[in-house]
Amino acid sequence: MIRSIFQRQIRGIHYYPFASTSQSLINCKSFVAAPFFKSLHTSPILSHGHLHTPKPGEELHITFITKDGNQYTYEVAEGDNILDIAQAHNLDMEGACGGSCACSTCHVIVDPEFYDEIPEPSDDENDMLDLAFGLTETSRLGCQVKMSKELDGIRVALPAMTRNLQNKDFN
Ligand code: FES
Repeated sequence: MIRSIFQRQIRGIHYYPFASTSQSLINCKSFVAAPFFKSLHTSPILSHGHLHTPKPGEELHITFITKDGNQYTYEVAEGDNILDIAQAHNLDMEGACGGSCACSTCHVIVDPEFYDEIPEPSDDENDMLDLAFGLTETSRLGCQVKMSKELDGIRVALPAMTRNLQNKDFN
């Protein structure tokens, strides 16, 4: 079924291989609007991954430290989770289970200064964390950590396969 839908879409494109630009655009629109390809569209960064636009004066800040040591700081809204924030900004966080606490690919290492401000992990999160590569004492799953006023300014590191982050990595 899916295969035949896909083939129909491909055939649809091939019917107009040399169409004018406007015809191509019309054809592309119907291609993108088809159910099979519904997710192919563009939207502003803050529309991705259920991110909210922070109200003026209520912006919270989060800094990601990537595997190569670069730091990126973003203004975010209360309630947004770390996985959604990272993915909305194209950072390298897979989130294989889509944030349902069923994998460990959103593993982050939290700055110890902020770790105790985060609500305790659930049993499910602890179970998944046990599977995370390079687990540390301040590891959490990004999809389970929501931004709050207490976490304003939080820094999280994306774990590298060969690096075990320590407190000094946050200095
Ligand atoms: S995305 Fe799978 S546990 Fe967070």
